[in-house]
Amino acid sequence: MINTFQIERQEPIPLESLIDFLQLGQNLLDKYDLPKVYHSPVSMKISRNSGGTTIEVENGLKVSLDLNDDFRRLFQEVNKVQNKKYPLYRVLRKFNISSDEKREIIDCTAGFLGDSLLLLILYPSLEVTAFEFNPLLFILLTDSLEKSSYKQLKKLKLRYGSSIDYLQQNEVAAKEIYYCDPMFEVKSLKSKNKKKIQFLEALIEDKNQQEFLPLLKGKNFIFKTSTLNHIDTKEYPIHFKEVGKNVTYYIFIAN
Ligand SMILES: C[S@@+](CC[C@H](N)C(=O)[O-])C[C@H]1O[C@@H](n2cnc3c(N)ncnc32)[C@H](O)[C@@H]1O
Repeated sequence: MINTFQIERQEPIPLESLIDFLQLGQNLLDKYDLPKVYHSPVSMKISRNSGGTTIEVENGLKVSLDLNDDFRRLFQEVNKVQNKKYPLYRVLRKFNISSDEKREIIDCTAGFLGDSLLLLILYPSLEVTAFEFNPLLFILLTDSLEKSSYKQLKKLKLRYGSSIDYLQQNEVAAKEIYYCDPMFEVKSLKSKNKKKIQFLEALIEDKNQQEFLPLLKGKNFIFKTSTLNHIDTKEYPIHFKEVGKNVTYYIFIAN
């Protein structure tokens, strides 16, 4: 069995071959209307591991995409401290969510699904749908989700495509909450997920944070940004703000 998959910078990669390598169903391409080929801005080597993949980028940066492992670690970490120590917990409290209420949250920017996992741990009755528009990352996340054994992870819905398109094209349900953690020019590198952020910085070329802002008006919306970036609160009046160590969460509540 071949254990590594090589991607060369800017070479057209038929996504079918990556799907084959990961032994995922071939219908993935049609099911999600994925592009047939992908041009990566960086070279990388992808190796399989039991819960997903390990990705080594050309400059030696190595990251693991293993959602089972991430979930287990986060779960243990959360159980050691009180939920309210997590800014994300305090952020969601602003929406008056009771512990057994089924509210739907749309994570507009999946990334490594770190925030989606944390939300599922802090609020187990939430229904989480996450959007990822990078096809390579989407396939790697799908692979890791398929290998997951946690019930909570099985209920997470992952969708391919731009959440901006979704927000523009779909009627918004009054109770839905939107969560957005877009790529910024400056991200604090003090984060404990530094390697994952560096990997996303190398892989994702589209920085579209400004496009989200006009879409959040009148919705239940959480906008996460690095402490170095600020939202013009005159143009986008916020209801609450939660300041974490490296990030600020701006909270908008639908009327
Ligand atoms: C900063 S990362 C999110 C990190 C994530 N919150 C986590 O904890 O792992 C931003 C991610 O959102 C994706 N993204 C950005 N804009 C998007 C859009 N309009 N639709 C879907 N995905 C988007 C990027 O490809 C990237 O993977």
